[in-house]
Amino acid sequence: MTEWDVALAACRRFGAASVTDLYPNPDAAPLQEALRALGARSKLIAWDDPDVDWGSYSHVVISSTWDSVDRPAEYLAWARDVAAVSTVLNPLPVIEWDIDKVHLEQLTAAGVPVVPTSWVYQGSRWAPPSGGDFVVKPSVSAGGRETARYRGGDPVAIGHVHRLLALGHTVMVQEYISRVDEEGETDLVFFDGVFSHAVQKSLVLRRGEGVIDRPWERTSWGGLVTPSPAQLRVAAQALAFVAEHLGCQLPYGRIDLVAGSGGDPLVLEVELIDPYLSLDIEPRAAKRLAEALLRPSLPRPQI
Ligand SMILES: Nc1ncnc2c1ncn2[C@@H]1O[C@H](COP(=O)(O)OP(=O)(O)O)[C@@H](O)[C@H]1O
Ligand SMILES: [Mg+2]
Repeated sequence: MTEWDVALAACRRFGAASVTDLYPNPDAAPLQEALRALGARSKLIAWDDPDVDWGSYSHVVISSTWDSVDRPAEYLAWARDVAAVSTVLNPLPVIEWDIDKVHLEQLTAAGVPVVPTSWVYQGSRWAPPSGGDFVVKPSVSAGGRETARYRGGDPVAIGHVHRLLALGHTVMVQEYISRVDEEGETDLVFFDGVFSHAVQKSLVLRRGEGVIDRPWERTSWGGLVTPSPAQLRVAAQALAFVAEHLGCQLPYGRIDLVAGSGGDPLVLEVELIDPYLSLDIEPRAAKRLAEALLRPSLPRPQI
């Protein structure tokens, strides 16, 4: 059986942790086992470990590099270096496109239903929208970092927006999607563009609490759910747009949907860098992912 050496790029448990003290990733064990079954060795490695020869790995799978959004320039420089010496998955153009949610504008322009978003760029003036609750978040973020919900017209949001701008962020302002309170979001996972499974997730932003510390630790993952035909259609439409726009195959991807006031699915996020893929919840998923990652290198089936 052919063997490959796969690095699973991960992150440290916290900034000053040693490179071997990694943030726990429930996808890792199922993926490593599925890779092993295909004849591939794999190792979890902190992406910012300075002593790694990434070129010695046939594949570098971006798996749980969850602190990338805290230093995106450094992260992108790392990804470019690694892509020059190994096969990075998802491919580098996907990482570069996905890291900043300004890409949601492109999806909207392509006719994909996206949570209505207004953008505050450097140097622009901003006033809080009146009406219903709204959400402020940076366009480069993950796990709910620097994200908060405000009452319509709340002047406290001005300080938040200005602070994010001062940190160099583009700021996203969205209507608060109230169905998230009861329904959470539905995350649809695809391998090689083929739907695999969907899970329910909730992280409810409470009005008035502002930005909270380590919000991702408040996320709760429900079980597997069966997506509606409309959810499948919207998620597939979003992924197909990205694959075509970037001219890339997408071995894995997760599209996070919420429901608008009429129940219609809206894209909240296109997760193509290092999404949690709930491989520990859907037992068939790890094999699908391992095959999608190695497909171009797997022996052709005998005819
Ligand atoms: N417009 C919104 N309406 C309701 N809830 C939101 C909205 N935007 C974000 N949230 C909540 O905040 C969480 C984090 O926001 P999200 O857009 O998923 O960014 P990220 O996961 O990259 O930090 C979501 O899972 C959701 O629970
Ligand atoms: Mg999210």
